[in-house]
Amino acid sequence: MRTITVLGSTGSVGTQTLDLLAATPERYAVHALVANRNAERLAAQARAARAARAVVADETAWPVLRDALAGTGIEAAAGPQAVIEAASMGADWTMAAITGAVGLAATLAAIRGGRAIAFANKEALVCAGDLMLAAVRQSGATLLPVDSEHNAIFQAMADGNRGAVERITLTASGGPFRTLSLEEMARARPEAALRHPVWSMGAKISIDSATMMNKGLEIIEAARLFALPSEAIAVLVHPQSVIHGMVHYRDGSVLAQLGSPDMRIPIAHALAWPERVATQSPRLDLAQLGGLTFEPPDETRFPALRLARAALEAGGGAPCVLNAANEVAVAAFLERRIGFLDIAATVDHVLQETAVPPVTTVEAVLALDAESRAATARICAARAAA
Ligand SMILES: NC(=O)c1ccc[n+]([C@@H]2O[C@H](COP(=O)([O-])OP(=O)(O)OC[C@H]3O[C@@H](n4cnc5c(N)ncnc54)[C@H](OP(=O)(O)O)[C@@H]3O)[C@@H](O)[C@H]2O)c1
Repeated sequence: MRTITVLGSTGSVGTQTLDLLAATPERYAVHALVANRNAERLAAQARAARAARAVVADETAWPVLRDALAGTGIEAAAGPQAVIEAASMGADWTMAAITGAVGLAATLAAIRGGRAIAFANKEALVCAGDLMLAAVRQSGATLLPVDSEHNAIFQAMADGNRGAVERITLTASGGPFRTLSLEEMARARPEAALRHPVWSMGAKISIDSATMMNKGLEIIEAARLFALPSEAIAVLVHPQSVIHGMVHYRDGSVLAQLGSPDMRIPIAHALAWPERVATQSPRLDLAQLGGLTFEPPDETRFPALRLARAALEAGGGAPCVLNAANEVAVAAFLERRIGFLDIAATVDHVLQETAVPPVTTVEAVLALDAESRAATARICAARAAA
């Protein structure tokens, strides 16, 4: 029996992870489930999964969690320290699926716990890649990529010699605004941006898909996970989202991973690795699909891609600034305080006005993250007032 912890269990990835675990409950013992403030959903999940512990980061959600778990024997806890403790418990397998840089401390604690980490929290790796990879080396933890593109690359690389890799390609659906003009995007409202044509995901990553900042963050994530330079990571728009990633080898061979666009497939791969488990996910029917199409990304309409690549190439704290600015700008757009095109423009503005220092400690990352958030909030307020 394997012990499991799910960080971000009430979210899109967390919920799908628990669905997969529920198919063979006799194989897993759930150590801890962690959320931010959705105490009712967390309590229901903890009961269903017979978790030992349920934790909310937001202490104001504690009374609801405590009451909902009264008499069950499930330990209820609250606050950032309780989140770290739950993450550090040393489960055999931890799903790191908190959204945003706020997940950094918990994800690092899970890595230091030293077992297998199924890794979805891309913002943490973008902000503090070197620190996280150093922690992985130190603890001997195994990092299993969950993002469908990185999971695809992980699968396609398993068959080859890493030294023979020429480059990789991350595919992108192009998001809900793939065919819109800049004028149409300027008028876009949150509800349209949240309506992803292929994937069903949490709000923040859905907006990132619409701006294509998601793919930008994924370029940085891939550079970290697979130790590749920016120029060895290509992006290809592929609206059907059937091919998730490709590895190009120096002999001209290209290995791709295909599958229906369903996050339960990469999650199941990370859960069972190095074996495979059965899933109920829709099977791929290429004859019914008829064709797969590809197009180059348009960095004029989607400048976030260019900004992310520039931040990766600048190195140091630049990816941390990019990520923090993007998180704040996305929240401002969701609250209707700025327009859709203002998201990338704001990130660009913050990157240009920040003197980016090298960041070699977690404290330095957190300080730069906080400083960048404050700068972004000021710029968003000015844009909202204009
Ligand atoms: N969704 C996808 O298909 C997908 C695909 C690839 C990668 N990812 C990545 O996976 C991560 C999760 O995405 P998602 O779409 O599942 O997000 P989501 O639906 O928004 O869920 C986020 C989860 O994080 C929890 N959370 C937020 N702040 C927290 C805090 N301070 N402490 C503890 N927990 C906190 C939330 O709890 P509450 O419910 O209480 O707020 C929720 O459980 C992101 O980094 C995303 O980029 C997602």
